[in-house]
Amino acid sequence: MALPILITLSILLSLITIPATGEHHNFVKSLDRKSLRIGREKISHFRVYWHDILSGPSPTSVMIVKPSSNISTSAFGLIRMIDNPLTEGPDVKSKLLGRAQGFYGSAAQENISLLMSMNFAFCEGKYNGSTITVMGRNEVFDKVREMPVIGGSGLFRFARGYVRASTHTFDLKTGDAVVMYNVYVMHY
Ligand SMILES: *[C@@H]1O[C@H](CO)[C@@H](O)[C@H](O)[C@H]1NC(C)=O
Ligand SMILES: *[C@@H]1O[C@H](CO)[C@@H](O)[C@H](O)[C@H]1NC(C)=O
Ligand SMILES: *[C@@H]1O[C@H](CO)[C@@H](O)[C@H](O)[C@H]1NC(C)=O
Repeated sequence: MALPILITLSILLSLITIPATGEHHNFVKSLDRKSLRIGREKISHFRVYWHDILSGPSPTSVMIVKPSSNISTSAFGLIRMIDNPLTEGPDVKSKLLGRAQGFYGSAAQENISLLMSMNFAFCEGKYNGSTITVMGRNEVFDKVREMPVIGGSGLFRFARGYVRASTHTFDLKTGDAVVMYNVYVMHY
């Protein structure tokens, strides 16, 4: 019978591996920590105030995706792009420490819960140019919301940790909000 022969042949052929050029796995190699100048891991805590400014002539938070109005009361589907100032105090005119750049969207159909995805880009002192990335679930009406810090750059390379966010002020009329972020981050 031809069929068993064909099957045997195809099994035999599949066992022959033809090495393709560039298939030597030397694109990965282990590094000495010293070559990356990695010292001891540190834990840093800092507090910043995050200003979500929707109103006025220069909003820092703009809607980029509209929710389907009749789907839910939680504005499910809405997405806003942000470039929010991060300041030392709750007053927006206090010292600027960096900016929160990214977006957040309404990700729940029942409660008002956001998916936050943003980089804290610092501009102060030795942290100028370093970033941390926050991505997590933000149930905005909870007193404290915890979200993971999933990475960082510059002084925050290899960062991991979490933030605890609590609303300082929220203007129901304009939608403007000031949120205190306590950041706990492990880095080198
Ligand atoms: C929402 O409204 C649109 C247009 O107003 C309509 O076509 C659609 O069927 C509505 N959807 C629901 C779930 O009611
Ligand atoms: C929605 O909020 C209510 C009241 O705070 C809470 O009991 C419920 O667990 C929340 N639902 C979800 C899916 O988180
Ligand atoms: C941060 O760095 C940028 C570019 O490296 C520089 O222009 C800026 O003045 C620095 N800001 C502060 C507050 O040091």
